[in-house]
Amino acid sequence: MTFDPLQERGIPLDRQVRNWRELNVTPIGPDHADPYTRCRIITMNGIETEAVLFSHHLARHCQDLDLKRQLARVRYIEAQQQKAVNWLLPGVSSVLETTIAYEQVAVDLTAWVARMEPDPYLKKAYEFGVLEDFDHLYRYANLYEMIEHRKAEKIVDQLTEVMPGRPTYLHHRDPFDNVREPYDRGGTEPISKLHALTIMSAEQQTMNFYMNVGPTYMEPIARQLYQEIGLIEEEHVTHYESLVDPGESWWEMLLNHEYNECYLYHSFMETESDPKVKAVWELHLNMELEHLRLAAELFKRHDGRDPDQVLAPALPPPVTFEPNKGYLRELIATQIDYTTLGTGYVQEAHERFEKMQEAVMGGEKAPSERVIEDNRARSGQEYRLETEGRHPVGSLQMSR
Ligand SMILES: [Fe+2]
Ligand SMILES: [Fe+2]
Ligand SMILES: [Fe+2]
Ligand SMILES: [Fe+2]
Repeated sequence: MTFDPLQERGIPLDRQVRNWRELNVTPIGPDHADPYTRCRIITMNGIETEAVLFSHHLARHCQDLDLKRQLARVRYIEAQQQKAVNWLLPGVSSVLETTIAYEQVAVDLTAWVARMEPDPYLKKAYEFGVLEDFDHLYRYANLYEMIEHRKAEKIVDQLTEVMPGRPTYLHHRDPFDNVREPYDRGGTEPISKLHALTIMSAEQQTMNFYMNVGPTYMEPIARQLYQEIGLIEEEHVTHYESLVDPGESWWEMLLNHEYNECYLYHSFMETESDPKVKAVWELHLNMELEHLRLAAELFKRHDGRDPDQVLAPALPPPVTFEPNKGYLRELIATQIDYTTLGTGYVQEAHERFEKMQEAVMGGEKAPSERVIEDNRARSGQEYRLETEGRHPVGSLQMSR
C-alpha cells in the first residue's frame, strides 16, 4: 500500500498546540532501550531543529506580516515537537554517552542513505563522510573508557562496530575543498532531495551539540577532542548542505522540508520497536500532514507550480536503522585514504590540504591521536569493538 502524504488529512493547525502535561513525555530507559530507538530520537531532534531554524531564516526574508504570522504559528508547533522528541532522551545519560549515540546515528543513517542513494555523485559524498564519523565514534569511545571507565558497547550494543576509520586528524581540509556540487533540482530523483536534507540536518545538530557541550568537561583532553571534532562537523555541514540545489525557491525548500518530516515520521512509525515512542511518531506524522498541506498552498500561490511537479508520487521505502557492518568494512578497505580536491576526490595529499594540516596542527599531535595513546597508557589497551573479525586494513589492526 502506498502512502501519499499530499492526499492524507492531518490534525488542523489550531488543534496542534500541546499543554505541559502533553509535552511532558516519558523518556526511554537509560539501560535497556533499543539503541536504534535512541538513534531515531536523535535523528528527529535534528530534523525538528532544522525545521525551526529554516523557518526563522525564511521569516527574515519575508515582507508580508500575514505570511510571517503563518510561519510563526507552524514554527511554534515545530518547536513543541522538538521539545517532545528531544525530551524522550533519559536525563541520566552523560554528555559523552549522548555523543557516542550521535556518532552511531551519523554512521548507520549515512551508511543506509549511501546504500539507497541512486545518484553516483551524491552516493560518493555519503560514502566519503561516513568513514569520518565512523572514526569519531572510535575516538569518543576511547575517551569514554578513559574518563568514565565504561565501554561504548553499553551504548551502541553489538549493532555498530567501533574501530578506526579515516583517521580524524586527516579530516582537517581547506574549506575550499569542502564545497561539493549540488544536485539539479529539475533532473534529480525526489528521494535524493530527501536524503540530502536528512543528512544535512543530522550533521548540523551534531555540530551545534558539540559546540555547546564541549566546554562542559573538566578534563583537558575531553575539551580538546570536542573542539577538534566540532570543527570537523562544521566541515560536514558545509559538505552536505552544498549538495542541495540553491536554485530551489524558498517555497520549494519549505515544501521539501515538510515532505521530509512526513517521510521520516512515517518511516520511524513503521520501524519503531518501542510502542510509547511509536505513538509520538504517529502523532507528529499527523501534525506534519497539515504542515505539508499549508506549505503546498504557499508553494502553489508564490511559486506558481503544482507540488506534484517537485515531490515524489508516494513515499519512498522507509528510512531504516539497521547494522551496516559489511558495507562499512568494504568502504574502509577501499576508500580510507581519500581526501577532497575542489568538488571531487583524490587519494593523495595535495598542496592546499598540506597547508591546512600544518596551520591547524601547529607541529603537535591532534587531540584525536592523543586520546588513543592516553587510553592505551591508562587502560592497558585502546578500546575497539570488532564483531566481524580483524580490521580490514592491515596497518590498522590491533597488535595482540
Ligand atoms: Fe516538525
Ligand atoms: Fe562525527
Ligand atoms: Fe559528521
Ligand atoms: Fe513540519
